Amino acid sequence: MALLSSRGDWYIYFWLIYCKIYLAIVGVFSNHCRGTDKVHSVITAGVSVVQSPGGLHRVRTRRRRPLQQHRSKLVALARRPSLRRIVMAPGASAVHAMMEDKEKTLHRPLASVSMHTRRISQFAPLLIALVGLPARGKSQVAHRLSRHLNWNGESTKVFDCSEYRRRHLALYGRHDIFRADNQQGSAVRRQSAREAVQDAMLWLKEGNSVAIFDGTNITRDQRRELNEYCLSEMGFRILFIECVCEDQELLERNIIEILHYSADYKDMSEEEAVDDLRKKMEHYMRQYEPIDAELEDISFVRVENMGETVTAHKVAGQKEAGILGYMSGMRVMPQTLYFTRHGESEYNVVGRIGGDASLSARGQLYAQALAEHVNALAGRAPLCVWTSELQRTKQTAAGIRAPKRPLRALNELDAGICEGLTYEEMQERFPQEFAWRDQDKLRYRYPWGESYIDIMTRLRPVLSALEDEHGVVVVGHQAVLRCMLGYFLDAKLDELPYMTVPLHTIVKLTSCGYKYRVEMIKMPVDCVDTHRKQPMNCSITRSASDALVTVPSHYDTLPSNLWQNTEAQL
Ligand code: F6P
Repeated sequence: MALLSSRGDWYIYFWLIYCKIYLAIVGVFSNHCRGTDKVHSVITAGVSVVQSPGGLHRVRTRRRRPLQQHRSKLVALARRPSLRRIVMAPGASAVHAMMEDKEKTLHRPLASVSMHTRRISQFAPLLIALVGLPARGKSQVAHRLSRHLNWNGESTKVFDCSEYRRRHLALYGRHDIFRADNQQGSAVRRQSAREAVQDAMLWLKEGNSVAIFDGTNITRDQRRELNEYCLSEMGFRILFIECVCEDQELLERNIIEILHYSADYKDMSEEEAVDDLRKKMEHYMRQYEPIDAELEDISFVRVENMGETVTAHKVAGQKEAGILGYMSGMRVMPQTLYFTRHGESEYNVVGRIGGDASLSARGQLYAQALAEHVNALAGRAPLCVWTSELQRTKQTAAGIRAPKRPLRALNELDAGICEGLTYEEMQERFPQEFAWRDQDKLRYRYPWGESYIDIMTRLRPVLSALEDEHGVVVVGHQAVLRCMLGYFLDAKLDELPYMTVPLHTIVKLTSCGYKYRVEMIKMPVDCVDTHRKQPMNCSITRSASDALVTVPSHYDTLPSNLWQNTEAQL
């Protein structure tokens, strides 16, 4: 008011009124334009956006629903020459790109699907769908990946389409059911795939992290439907893994494995089986449409020759990135691995845990027996020995004629404040800790020490490396070997801490298909038993005798004549 009352202030007053009137007119006009624009955009359904000036287009799409936003982003990309190849074939114009995009949206509503991909949380469950012809290593990949993911805390399960098919056709019959023109066969196969996917979805809905659908998914239509169902209807993430195998040697090896281990061929003669599998592959080859990044809007990883070359397309997300990393390091080949605990140690004899004790006299005898056994094997194939950094494993491996690699990650479970105690002493000094450990041995961590879960974590790189090795002899410890064997045998995590891995026994693992055959080779050298079963009573208020009921027998002091038959003195 002070301003208005001064001289010449009527100019300012006039100027303010002028601005107000101007703004009112502009407001009315622009509202009118927006109304027209809305109508226009509904009629032209997106085609006009190419002709619209960029500025107007941006204003309009900001208010549009996500599908239109997605399209406007594509246009924006197409206008930037450096990014043009991402959305259209080289040489095509922006208008063509839009038309193509529209066609794709109509015939294969994938544009809307990829929009969903962006909205689905990083933490949403993931479906992995295998793609490829028979004998290309899909099941190998599925089961190895499942083992790896489970180990890393992602609850994973494989849903094998052929198992569902076998439920419908108790007897496999012949290759004919895979012919494209066999309507009955196709119906059974479609139904089996549907059931496998349903179960996979149920698994994910129950709160698990990853489901692996081990099917062929060889046509674009199958993949499009699966992609859309998973993303749009279920709100889960999806990653396709295509297995391609051009290497004839690898292919033959895979075929031999199928003939040996597939339930389809267990009742056929070898000749019949070979002929049947060959024809089955021919039927599939006629229908196979390899994944084409130009035609399919899916995220996928292509694995060639069982991991020789790995390529990725539109792979995003934490889990997917981890999977890609694992696949890149993967080599699938027949394997034989040997595992053994160190020979009986002086601590084992008196029932003490942990420490860095030397071998007992009987432990040294085992070391000799082991060396003889392994050196005889080494004549056939070059071997390599991995030990821990503790002296009992190094002493055990000393006589083996092969390169040795001591690894800290193979050291025994660190028992923290209980290192060097017997189980009886633990019960006496830390009864509560002893009970807690019995309640949940997998997760229990010794104060200032480790849990089984900790061992699993530190073993990850060793296991990844070991998966690609052949002829390695691992000389380790009870808890560490429980975890390693548990990994290869796909044991339930809660069962790991109670697996039986006796002293003076070589455990031989031989790969057969995607599984491992186990042989326990017991050496004729006496030793104590160190396996303590879970007692019935795990309560912290239990009596000492209840707590100690499963403690294996041991000596109180180290006998001097241990190498003789000392069984009676126990
Ligand atoms: O008793 C031998 C030993 O290797 C100990 O050093 C180690 O603490 C123990 O086995 C692990 O077994 P558990 O987890 O059953 O106590």
